[in-house]
Amino acid sequence: MTQDELKAAVADAAIREIEPHLDKDTVLGIGTGSTANLFIDRLGPLRDRFKGAVASSEASAERLKGLGIEVFELNHVGDVPFYIDGADEVNAHLHMIKGGGAALTREKIVAACAKRFICIADGSKYVAQLGHFPLPVEVIPMARSYVARELVKLGAEPVYRQGVLTDNGNHIIDCFNFMIDDPVAMEARINAIVGVVTNGLFAARGADILLLGKTDGVERTA
Ligand code: 5RP
Repeated sequence: MTQDELKAAVADAAIREIEPHLDKDTVLGIGTGSTANLFIDRLGPLRDRFKGAVASSEASAERLKGLGIEVFELNHVGDVPFYIDGADEVNAHLHMIKGGGAALTREKIVAACAKRFICIADGSKYVAQLGHFPLPVEVIPMARSYVARELVKLGAEPVYRQGVLTDNGNHIIDCFNFMIDDPVAMEARINAIVGVVTNGLFAARGADILLLGKTDGVERTA
């Protein structure tokens, strides 16, 4: 199976996971990226079975609206039963690196509000140790050089993601050659640097359910 077929398989599996729980009051939290897009596309035909969605990016919001799904501001929504999103890396503890699409901050906010985080990923995203994928850090633009110097002190090789402005108007620094021994501690440590908005480690609040696409089927871990 191709990587795209594996992504489609986990998007189908996520629909099966949430479908029994949909009702007229349900507002779903929706992630960002190619795997999340496949999930969004499958939500279209179900749009009359739930109230709407909150999106982790402008891109996902537009895609949802294009399918006739109402998109709400998070501040106007009480309960978010599920947040469904992809990942750049995920480990056995369901800790993740996210933010390859620069949407990490809004992803982390919607995930924080959700009762259950369902991570959908093709098998290539599964790793024994996080850090092969460069860890994204969203920074306030004027703090970019300072934060980069602080990241060097932590052992990272920071690279400014040129030409990218997040939906929040900020910059992204990617941390290369930065293997992470303790994701929970490192998430807190990077977030404590002045000027950091957030980093792409999703460990303090990891996923609750992982649907991992493998050639022999979708593996569910909870
Ligand atoms: C965007 C993300 C995505 O979830 C992550 O980059 C995975 O994307 P894809 O499903 O395209 O592989 O964190 O900020």
